[in-house]
Amino acid sequence: MTDPLSIDALKAQVLARPLPRHVGIIMDGNGRWAQLRGQERLEGHRKGSDSVRNVTRASRRLGLEALTLYAFSAQNWQRPPAEVEGLMELLREYIVNERAEIMDNGIRLHAIGQLDRIPPRVREPLEELRALSAGNDKMTLTLALSYGGREEIVAMTQQIAREAAAGTLKADDIDFTAIEQRLWTQGLPPLELVVRTSGEVRVSNFLLWQLAYAELHLTETLWPDFGERELLIALDDFQRRERRFGKTSTQLRTGA
Ligand code: IPE
Ligand code: IPE
Ligand code: MG
Repeated sequence: MTDPLSIDALKAQVLARPLPRHVGIIMDGNGRWAQLRGQERLEGHRKGSDSVRNVTRASRRLGLEALTLYAFSAQNWQRPPAEVEGLMELLREYIVNERAEIMDNGIRLHAIGQLDRIPPRVREPLEELRALSAGNDKMTLTLALSYGGREEIVAMTQQIAREAAAGTLKADDIDFTAIEQRLWTQGLPPLELVVRTSGEVRVSNFLLWQLAYAELHLTETLWPDFGERELLIALDDFQRRERRFGKTSTQLRTGA
């Protein structure tokens, strides 16, 4: 076994090759992190919000174009009310406390999901920071909140049906582009890498359409333990993949 690379060496290696344009993270394992320490699940969520801060900062410094964090799924409303309440409070604190960091670093904050279900005390500061940061162009940070990939596809289909009924969209004009223009991720770069923490091997309703050709990086690390080093490891893993999009290796090498 060779020594693991230092964080600086790893960073230099990652920066020497093309980065994925858009990274999505299924931030999982907060509850288990807390339970392993005999603490309340909410303590894991609290520690998880520190990871959000660290990973966002590291992503911005590396020059990632877009980072999408799965923070709360449409299905997570089914958790015990006290946990849902605690998560909403942490989200509110995050939005209020990160305002300066987001603005000072030129980050555009965006949100996708069924945002009308988010309580006003969270939604209002979120919408405010979203409007305030709309002109920032260093990185787009998207929070997936009350988000579900199936829910997004249903909303897109309803939109298409309405336009068809109004006579403004013809069946023959429905192609990949027409669909992507009506998804919540409209305008974001193509999703190229999805990371899931905590050892689970499923997508749990995250960006279902967008995942079509994304590379997956699965790690046993629990989200509260995930930081810059783990992000660099995921990016390095991505950079070692051969993305064939249905073609053969030979075709890719010869450009045929
Ligand atoms: C991820 O951690 C955070 C959310 C889903 C909101 P979990 O709360 O799912 O943690 P585990 O999976 O129970 O460990
Ligand atoms: C997925 O994690 C949702 C988020 C990370 C926000 P879950 O912990 O809710 O996923 P399942 O229930 O294990 O599939
Ligand atoms: Mg979980």
